Amino acid sequence: MLRLLAERELPVARIAPLASSRAADRTVPYAGAELAVRAVSQAALAEADLVLASAGGAVSREWLPFAAEQGAVCVDNTSAFRMDDDVPLVVPEVNADRLDGIELGGGPGAIVANPNCSTIQLVVALEPLRRAFGLERVVVSTYQSVSGAGRAALERFRAATAAGDDAPALPGVPAFDVLPAIGEPERDGHTTEEWKMIRETPKILGADVPVDATCVRVPVVTGHAEAVLVETREPVTVADAERVLRAAPGVRLHADAGPTPRALAGSREVHVGRLRPARTGRHGLHLWVVADNLLKGAAWNAVQIVEALVARSVPA
Ligand SMILES: NC(=O)c1ccc[n+]([C@@H]2O[C@H](COP(=O)([O-])OP(=O)(O)OC[C@H]3O[C@@H](n4cnc5c(N)ncnc54)[C@H](OP(=O)(O)O)[C@@H]3O)[C@@H](O)[C@H]2O)c1
Repeated sequence: MLRLLAERELPVARIAPLASSRAADRTVPYAGAELAVRAVSQAALAEADLVLASAGGAVSREWLPFAAEQGAVCVDNTSAFRMDDDVPLVVPEVNADRLDGIELGGGPGAIVANPNCSTIQLVVALEPLRRAFGLERVVVSTYQSVSGAGRAALERFRAATAAGDDAPALPGVPAFDVLPAIGEPERDGHTTEEWKMIRETPKILGADVPVDATCVRVPVVTGHAEAVLVETREPVTVADAERVLRAAPGVRLHADAGPTPRALAGSREVHVGRLRPARTGRHGLHLWVVADNLLKGAAWNAVQIVEALVARSVPA
C-alpha cells in the first residue's frame, strides 16, 4: 500500500506507519525515504484524515471505531466491518458511488471496507455481465495462492517446498498438494472464506444474486484463479459476453489460452479467459478469472478507494 500510495502521487502531507509495539523500532521505505514505524495509539489515530488498516480483524475492531469517531476515514482490509449495514463495501469499478458523501479532512469520519480478495476479482468480472444480461446465479471454485494466507503461511510454504516432495506433508501447507477448504468450518459445511464470497458478492453488486463457492488453496505464491459458472437471466453468447467484458473497467480479456496467476503476479487488472457456453441451465457461461490477490485483491483496491475519496474531497 505504501509503494502504491507513493507511486500515485496523492496529496499526502504526512504519512505515519503504525504497527504493534513489536515492530516499533523498524523503518519502512516510502517514496525514496525511510519512515520510522510507531506503535499504534489513540494519539496517532486522532491526528489522521485517512487510516489504511491491514493488521487483522481484531486490530481493526480495537482501533478503527475510535479513529472514525475522531474524524478519520478508515479503509479497512480486514473482514471486521464488511457486512455492517452502515459500512460501504467497495470495489471502485463496481460501486464507487457508495463513497458519495464521505469526505477526507474535516467531514465526519467513516469506515469503508475493502472486500475479500477472491470476491473482489469475481465482482469485477460479474458486474458488466450483470448489467448486460442479468444474473440468475453464480457458482465459483477458487484456486487461491499461499500469499493470501499472510506472511507466516508463505514462509512455511517456502520451507516445505524447499524440503522436497518426499518430506512429510505439513497440515495447512499446500506444498506439492491442493487443500480443499480455506478458513474455518462455518455453516452447511461451507467455510468462513466461502461465506465471505456468498455474502459479500450480493452486497457489492447491490443485487440479490445467489452465489455458491468452494475455496481451495493451491501451491502458487501469488495470484488467485477462479472457475466461475454464471447463469444469466437473458440469453447470452460467448461473442456478446466478450464484447461486454472487453469494454469493462479493470478487465483484460484473454482470447486464447487462459491467463495464469504466476504470469500475472504484479498486474492490477482482473484477467478473464476460457469463455465457454454452459452446458446446463437455461442461459450461461463459464469464465476463468485471475488476479493478483495482494494488489487487486488487497492493496490496489484499497488505494483505488483512496483515489476515489480524494477525487470527492479535493476541489479540481
Ligand atoms: N493476503 C491477502 O491476499 C489479503 C487480501 C485481502 C485482505 N487481507 C486481510 O488483510 C489483513 C492482513 O493480512 P496479511 O495477509 O497482510 O497478514 P500478515 O502477512 O500476517 O500481516 C499482518 C500484519 O499485521 C501486523 N500486526 C499484527 N498484530 C498487530 C497489532 N496488534 N497492531 C498492529 N499491527 C499488527 C503484523 O505485524 P508483525 O509481523 O509485527 O506481527 C503484520 O505486519 C487480514 O485481515 C487479511 O484477512 C489479506
